[in-house]
Amino acid sequence: MSPRPSRRALIGAAALTPALGLAAWRRPEGAPLDPPTMTTVATLADAARAQGRYYGAAVRAEQLRENAGLRAAVLRDCQVLTPEIHLKWNSLEWRKGEFNFAPVDDLLAFSQRHGMEVRGHTLLWDQGTPGWARQDMLQRRDWSLMSGHLERVLKRYAPRITDWDVINEPIDTEAGAAGLRRNVFHQAFGPTYIERVLEEARAHAPQAHLVINDYGFEYDNPVDQARRKAIVALARRLRASGAPLDGIGVQAHLDLSKGPLAVEGLRDMTRRLIDEGLEVTITELDVKESSFHGSAAARDQKVADETRRYLETMLAFPQVRGVVTWGLSDRFSWLSEPPQRLHADAPLNRGLPYDADYRPKAMHHALSEALRLTA
Ligand code: XIL
Repeated sequence: MSPRPSRRALIGAAALTPALGLAAWRRPEGAPLDPPTMTTVATLADAARAQGRYYGAAVRAEQLRENAGLRAAVLRDCQVLTPEIHLKWNSLEWRKGEFNFAPVDDLLAFSQRHGMEVRGHTLLWDQGTPGWARQDMLQRRDWSLMSGHLERVLKRYAPRITDWDVINEPIDTEAGAAGLRRNVFHQAFGPTYIERVLEEARAHAPQAHLVINDYGFEYDNPVDQARRKAIVALARRLRASGAPLDGIGVQAHLDLSKGPLAVEGLRDMTRRLIDEGLEVTITELDVKESSFHGSAAARDQKVADETRRYLETMLAFPQVRGVVTWGLSDRFSWLSEPPQRLHADAPLNRGLPYDADYRPKAMHHALSEALRLTA
């Protein structure tokens, strides 16, 4: 079997270029000459790199293009970028046969210019499937629609993108069937759609690191507990059948309303996944606030404490290959969009490393320290 990239390989290109740290930081057009963040805070890229890991963030191409402050933060902290929406099927092909590759191409060009990698998020997601494809799949149950999509995206991008969230959010322990979400793929093709998709992904991207990505593993409640069991069971089933699965992505959308983190549960799940020969990536870290009361500093401290506790638990495993936050600045967080944001006047959620004015917060410091921990 051909070797596939380990956690070091994904950052190989970045590792060969000069560090993305202070020395290599280039002032993007229009950025303030001397942003306060540049001199006082260690970069997350440096912290991660020191342990052979990577740090990255989800971004949108147009946000990066239009906001010098965001660009500066990305350039100094990130080795990896995840397209927040552009690789989803409904973004690539909103209308059948009309393709919109430009935003992904832009992000790839940006990342290449700056020695970064891009994560492939995501080939298949129920919520990211265009209506026409959904209808077509349910009516005709024609696999060629799936094959065509996988082939098109991977042929175009797999040579450049080596880490793929092949299937996003396949687990559902509440309304699912044997732990699997009754998503459009399950409804049209049955539970083995997962193996079939992985096989095809491997065929088109033999060198890529293939991941199943999911959420809801972090807290001590019956649902998260069942979800931890379900992801381990799925991983076991797939590995036992020889399906080409290399890793699990844990989204890690933390939530301050859900009580203490299930530290033991997380350790146990991660250990079991690793025992199956899998690597683990933290793919969408952010912290949802439960109360917007108190000073910004007090809120930021809670967010930072939760981040630190979570990362200290997960990064104790050397097989956890990297950390991606779902955004970088509170200015652009999905937690401040509906339906996560309950009403338009609600304060911005402060669950990302930088505030809305691109100043690093306590969460940045927590990330930087946790990434430095030796596994
Ligand atoms: C979200 C984006 O952040 C939103 O902007 C978009 O409207 C919907 O998708 N889990 C995932 C991500 O895997 O793809 C989701 O991203 C957030 C939840």
